[in-house]
Amino acid sequence: MDLKGRVAVVTGAGSGIGRAMAERFAAAGMHLALADIEAEPLAVVADALRERGCEVEAERLDVRDSAALEALAVRCFSRFGGAHVLCNNAGVASGGPVWEISEEDWDWVIGVNLVAVVHGIRAFVPKMIASGEPGHIVNTASIAGLTCPAFMSPYTVTKHAVVALSDTLRSDLAMSDAMIGVSVLCPGWVRTRIHESDRNRPGGEADASEELSMMRELVDGFIAGGIDPADVAEQVHDAVVNGQFWIRTHPEMEPMVAKRCEAIIAGEPPPPMLPTDIK
Ligand SMILES: NC(=O)c1ccc[n+]([C@@H]2O[C@H](COP(=O)([O-])OP(=O)(O)OC[C@H]3O[C@@H](n4cnc5c(N)ncnc54)[C@H](O)[C@@H]3O)[C@@H](O)[C@H]2O)c1
Repeated sequence: MDLKGRVAVVTGAGSGIGRAMAERFAAAGMHLALADIEAEPLAVVADALRERGCEVEAERLDVRDSAALEALAVRCFSRFGGAHVLCNNAGVASGGPVWEISEEDWDWVIGVNLVAVVHGIRAFVPKMIASGEPGHIVNTASIAGLTCPAFMSPYTVTKHAVVALSDTLRSDLAMSDAMIGVSVLCPGWVRTRIHESDRNRPGGEADASEELSMMRELVDGFIAGGIDPADVAEQVHDAVVNGQFWIRTHPEMEPMVAKRCEAIIAGEPPPPMLPTDIK
């Protein structure tokens, strides 16, 4: 797809991977509709892109609010006349053993990481199909959508679901006449603020057991040593242009995925793993 002059929508655009995707699509000559729950970082990103001559619609919203995403779609189509690349990217992480995670935290992570992706698709895709123009949807999952590390169950469950949702969406679109492609982004560690997700947690920062705090410290180190979000954004850009489904930014992690698939086929339980085994 030729991106110049077309419109990209990015959720979670105030930080990390979302911000880098917005910058990469702006560099490709696209107009942008950006959303984030954090007003200030979003305004900083939007202003910097406007200074570079990009047209930007920026909206502070909570992606769990389907009406807010509907309203963004309406504004995007009325201002720019369309939407061509939709990146359902906002995400949060929460940790602990399955039985210790509160009902509120399950709701929060499922709401942001999974249900919001459905909201984004429901708000934009009917309009994209009706426009008859080419389009592409990028859903941000994770390597945690292809593996099952301990202590990350809400995150892992939602990211597996985003992989399944993206694969199904691809089939659904293939059955229609729409010229709309799908990609699912499955990164390993990326240098962002994902490990500080509690900054947006309803009710503030969660208490953590000693064991969980130690695990978090290790994860902080992996995030700090992760790849640059700009490298991820470059691969997202290329996947959109080339119509590529899987976006796998960390090929060194693929043997982990292969081991799990081989265990499934062999009828064996997949080997247990910790977040620190993701490397
Ligand atoms: N960083 C990594 O190592 C990594 C690896 C795999 C996948 N991911 C995924 O990448 C995506 C982007 O995360 P990131 O790593 O850039 O982290 P980040 O924390 O830097 O950025 C996430 C953005 O989402 C926004 N957000 C959070 N809750 C929101 C809500 N309810 N409504 C709207 N916006 C909300 C945040 O304000 C933030 O700007 C997430 O889906 C994450 O799960 C990250």
